[in-house]
Amino acid sequence: MKRTIELIKKFNTLVGPSGYEDEVREEIKKFVLKLGIKSITESPLGSLIIKVGTGKKKVMLAGHMDEIGVLCTYIDKDGFIRFSPVGGVSKYGLIGTRVKFINGVKGIIGAESLKKPDDFVLEKLYIDIGARSTKEAEKLVPIGTFGVFDREVDVLGTRVAAKAHDDRIGCIVMMEVLEKVYKKKLPYTVYFVFTTQEEVGLRGAKVAAYDLEPDFGIALDVTATGDTLDGYKMAVKLGAGVAIKVKDSSLITHPKLKDLLVKTAEKNKIKFQLEILDRGGTDAGAIHLTKSGIPSTVLSIPTRYVHSQSEMIDLDDVKATEDLLEKLITTSDLGNLKF
Ligand code: CO
Ligand code: ZN
Repeated sequence: MKRTIELIKKFNTLVGPSGYEDEVREEIKKFVLKLGIKSITESPLGSLIIKVGTGKKKVMLAGHMDEIGVLCTYIDKDGFIRFSPVGGVSKYGLIGTRVKFINGVKGIIGAESLKKPDDFVLEKLYIDIGARSTKEAEKLVPIGTFGVFDREVDVLGTRVAAKAHDDRIGCIVMMEVLEKVYKKKLPYTVYFVFTTQEEVGLRGAKVAAYDLEPDFGIALDVTATGDTLDGYKMAVKLGAGVAIKVKDSSLITHPKLKDLLVKTAEKNKIKFQLEILDRGGTDAGAIHLTKSGIPSTVLSIPTRYVHSQSEMIDLDDVKATEDLLEKLITTSDLGNLKF
């Protein structure tokens, strides 16, 4: 767990808004090269693809490197930066939030005077980078500069709060499983794909799946929970294990695949829960619609406050997710499914 926490800390200091995932990609590349793995390729849209195993059937794993963020669209006369959201940024809790642009410039989100609740719209918010004029601001943060939210990681017992668990934790699960299995003889050819631009429409995964033509797709991503006070009713809890996707807005897990996941978790005494997410999708949504259709699913890490600057996960769930993923790609049951 200490190692996982270290990785979480490292990966949540990186800046990787959609389309600008370079820092994350470089850090993952370093990790993979250290293991001595040489079969690394990079797709034109920036996804990192690591191939292990030589089995006939192909499994594509997908974890997205990008995170939600902001994009500088306009600079006011006093040097305040207007911005567009990159991905599903929730406007609540934004005032006072720290921002870091890809060039390292930092700022704070402020708001025009908000007289009534209806006034609270993204258009009324701005980023204050400490500049005193348009010119000064333009030099520091030119129009078109992407940025992300900036928050330190906090470890609260077995729970960890961070700004970009979505989806650095999915990437970390894949990295730790890769480390465990790459020397083994795997029954499949497994592609560990670290994708780009998920938060703006599953774009990196879509083109990677087209290229790789896998037989199965498994995304590793976060999901919401229904375990907070008066919260939204959803049967996923923090600390209750890996969430096996039944349905979200982008995907219905093929029943045969869902049954196999449940059986595998039960057989290996891995804590799991079934997940139905009313809103939101993942890379698996793009993968499963490739060519004639690719049976796909998601192993989700339950996360409170998704898309806020303090997303919270439980380390036990991370472990359960890694265990189930490892079992799936090291045993032959998946490949025996007939579709
Ligand atoms: Co997301
Ligand atoms: Zn995500």
